[in-house]
Amino acid sequence: MKHKTIIEPFKIKSIEPISLSTEAEREAYLKEAHYNTFLLNSEHVIIDFLTDSGTSAMSAEQWAGIMKGDESYAGSRSWFAMKKVVEDLTGMEYILPTHQGRAAERIIYGYLGGKGKTFISNTHFDTTRANIEFSGAEAIDIPIAESSNFSSNYPFKGNIDTEKLKEVINTREAENIGAVIITVTNNSGGGQPVSLKNTKEVSELCKHHNILLVLDCCRVAENAYFIKHREPGFEHKTYEQIAREMFSLADGAVMSSKKDALVNMGGFLALRDKKIADACSNLLIITEGFATYGGLSGRDMEALAIGLKEVFEPHYLEYRIKSTSYLGEKLHEMGVPVVMPIGGHAVYVDAKKLYPQIPVHQYPGQALACELYLKGGIRTVEIGSVMFGKYDKTGKLIPAPMELVRLAIPRRVYTQSHIEYVIETFEEILKTKSSVYGYKIIEEAAFLRHFTAKFEQLLN
Ligand code: F0G
Repeated sequence: MKHKTIIEPFKIKSIEPISLSTEAEREAYLKEAHYNTFLLNSEHVIIDFLTDSGTSAMSAEQWAGIMKGDESYAGSRSWFAMKKVVEDLTGMEYILPTHQGRAAERIIYGYLGGKGKTFISNTHFDTTRANIEFSGAEAIDIPIAESSNFSSNYPFKGNIDTEKLKEVINTREAENIGAVIITVTNNSGGGQPVSLKNTKEVSELCKHHNILLVLDCCRVAENAYFIKHREPGFEHKTYEQIAREMFSLADGAVMSSKKDALVNMGGFLALRDKKIADACSNLLIITEGFATYGGLSGRDMEALAIGLKEVFEPHYLEYRIKSTSYLGEKLHEMGVPVVMPIGGHAVYVDAKKLYPQIPVHQYPGQALACELYLKGGIRTVEIGSVMFGKYDKTGKLIPAPMELVRLAIPRRVYTQSHIEYVIETFEEILKTKSSVYGYKIIEEAAFLRHFTAKFEQLLN
């Protein structure tokens, strides 16, 4: 018989208790955290959907690998294990280990960036944009028009707008472009996938103008799932073959391995060009660690080598993508405005639509993140004007194009009943939505302000 229910394709060997709390307790915790979910203690969280990054449960194989980790400073066996898996997947010659994605970003974009340079992406992730801007360069997002239509079911809303790409190349001139970056899946754009057709078109344009193409590949296996099931011509390819084909079109790759390599810490930079790789290697040694560990322990590299293979296992990927869409589809059916189609690693709720009474300068997304914590102990993150808002010269907020809240689902961590609990919490969110007010920022940092900003609740 063919079962309808997609079960978690694993058994639980080791557990981590969740401490339950009351709404009154959470009210006090939230106040102490200045209404910023990043400032909550994880002990006070029931379901942690803050991020899918570094929060995966490792397999028994990976834990066994941890014990075998070779902690030698140079030429560690674990480094060679990691290097081989990354080389096989990316097909790139130069592999630099880093402790996480943003370390790789700082190195490569610090080297390619600087004043006068422009970087172009479907959507730069916040750390990507911050590293580019920190170098003095500019970051431009050009996702296709469908990406901002939350109700469109277009299958590849993560694609780059190639017409706009041509325009930006013409106006900025190719030699001033640091790189084009394809983020798969497009995290800040709703976790939407990028097609291989689009990647090919972008790659051809980049080659024609001699511009470097970098793949931000932290969710490349999830993106491969969508290609296999949505893009004609890939039905019979394996997920790994699809991912390899995508890498073959790029000149470099940056990976936060805390996502699709199923580890708690790790990352890498992969390159084809020796000159760039040598320069980056120097920066790596100065700031991260020697070229055969780059800030990682041997055990981290061992677990990464195993995780980056496990993630392509078909039953795992099917469970992963279908369990995320189960939550999203249920919320959609209940009338919660969610970004459609449901992305790979997260469900994105349109807070602007949910709370039409809250103007963007009072951060509707922050209000929803606070409500989810209060009502259910569910921790999420705002992806809107708190994260991406800027100020004009007069100090007025230039809002982000969207006000979303992300429910990012850790890999292999939560079960179906946890998800049912989240759905139940949303029933309450819907019932009480008209009595929710916005927030005001009372303290903030110059870069990545969402991590540390303090808020005050507005009461009318
Ligand atoms: N690129 C993308 C697309 C990401 O999603 C992230 C991290 C990074 C780069 C940076 O990697 O955290 O290892 O330094 N995203 C996490 C998230 C933090 O919650 O989405 P990192």
